[in-house]
Amino acid sequence: MRGLAIDAASALAEEATLAALLRCCVREVAGPRGLVWPASPYLLLRVAGTLLRARTYGGAALRFEGPPERLEGGAWQRLTADELVRLAEADLHGENGEFGGQVAASREAVAAILRAREEAAPPADPWLASEQALVYGHPFHPSPKARGGDGWLRYAPEAHARFPVRLLGVREDVLAEGGDVSVLDAMGAAPAGYRLLPAHPWQLELLRPAFGPGLVDLGPGPAVMPTSSVRTVYAPESEVCLKFSLDVRITNCVRKNAWYELAGAVELTSRLTPIFEEISVKHPTTRWLPEPGYRSAALGPRLHEGLGVIVRQSPWAACDPGVTPVLAAALALDVSAKDPLSWWHAYVTAVALPVLELYFTHGVVLEPHLQNVLVGLDTDGLPAQAVFRDLEGAKLVAGRHDLTGLHPEVAGALTYDAERGWTRVVYCLLVNHLTEIAATLAGQDDGLLRELWGTARDLLARQAEDLGRPLPLSDLLAGAPLPAKANLGVRWARAADRAAGYVPIANPLA
Ligand SMILES: Nc1ncnc2c1ncn2[C@@H]1O[C@H](COP(=O)(O)OP(=O)(O)OP(=O)(O)O)[C@@H](O)[C@H]1O
Ligand SMILES: [Mg+2]
Repeated sequence: MRGLAIDAASALAEEATLAALLRCCVREVAGPRGLVWPASPYLLLRVAGTLLRARTYGGAALRFEGPPERLEGGAWQRLTADELVRLAEADLHGENGEFGGQVAASREAVAAILRAREEAAPPADPWLASEQALVYGHPFHPSPKARGGDGWLRYAPEAHARFPVRLLGVREDVLAEGGDVSVLDAMGAAPAGYRLLPAHPWQLELLRPAFGPGLVDLGPGPAVMPTSSVRTVYAPESEVCLKFSLDVRITNCVRKNAWYELAGAVELTSRLTPIFEEISVKHPTTRWLPEPGYRSAALGPRLHEGLGVIVRQSPWAACDPGVTPVLAAALALDVSAKDPLSWWHAYVTAVALPVLELYFTHGVVLEPHLQNVLVGLDTDGLPAQAVFRDLEGAKLVAGRHDLTGLHPEVAGALTYDAERGWTRVVYCLLVNHLTEIAATLAGQDDGLLRELWGTARDLLARQAEDLGRPLPLSDLLAGAPLPAKANLGVRWARAADRAAGYVPIANPLA
């Protein structure tokens, strides 16, 4: 029995790893060279001279039906992830000795997650269950689940981990904080002259801070559960989320809260509060998760950033009674809609329209990818609210906000120029997000997929009128190619996430 389960987990992990890498190859390797051809029911592509084929559906989401194959000696052979790694390596310029290892590590992690899930019970809280449902991770990343080091499974959301935070005491004269962090003081008891600083136990293992009179270890604190980002956890007793630094590479970034991001989260929270109030007049389904404060220890930059924690409102507090928040990325895996067209109409209205209003009317760039949006479902399962989160990715458009008085690094980190901001919005909203939800709703029904995009087009066109037909939106509606983030390219180049480029893909609104 046990052996069979292990084989099944390995097979599923291999299938998912191959699929994610193949999607990246279509988009970033063969696509830009004109080496992808639709040959119904197959998609053909050439990588490093080898012809590959797979049956696909779901439009740009590139869902695969049956195993991808490679042509060898005149016969179609089943393709493996390791073979595709070698082909991609041969086709990409330069070299990267880590790449194959990262893909393999991601595959091993998926298998370990699958095995762990057989023995773990999902949380009763449906929102938290959705945060912990992302077994395969980002569908367009070459190593979506690679997580440096050992011991990660103990803290893995997909394995339904639950663990106590570690409580540290920071002596008041070396406390670094901003905004409202009163919720942290209620998490336990601190000795006189100290303030409580919750810490992620994994980060403490990695960081090994020196304890002394400025920083003391107070032992385990309240139990928390990890959300989909791994480093942000939910503390149910305090009804709050805590976003920790974690010195681990997850997808493209080592997840450290830089000092200017700690301060920037609080700054953005106060600036976005009146803007979201205004947005909710026109778009009453809009909610967001403020990040009212941060706390850390002013014991040098390593500890200041490594121990910095951001307080974030809980999604339950953001949603109306009777509305259940569900992570959009979980809906992209599994959605049940009795009437897909009206469900989608409600979804696009709630998710897309406020994002465009924020950009054009208020000069605010959200990062509404599948992991940064929660959709509030009503008792009939219909999208009733959209909750936007993660202020690290939220930016102000340069020139549209008065940032005088802010530290230049804080101001710089929370600003995008208009064009870069628009590219980010279009990628996150359309390519990363709506493309995946539409593909899941439509399944293999291509006619329905076209209808869904027709509905999205109507909604966006109406809003374009409302906004005075801004040029970038008109271009989008006219069919301009969409920017798809090059996750394979950025991993191959070992570059910072913010240096990631984009490749053009077909626009389903056309
Ligand atoms: N479709 C997806 N798009 C983007 N990220 C995804 C997707 N699916 C899974 N993920 C995962 O979600 C996380 C997104 O990273 P992001 O930087 O938005 O979060 P974070 O800042 O670490 O935490 P939080 O969202 O709690 O603020 C990564 O861990 C990434 O692997
Ligand atoms: Mg996020």
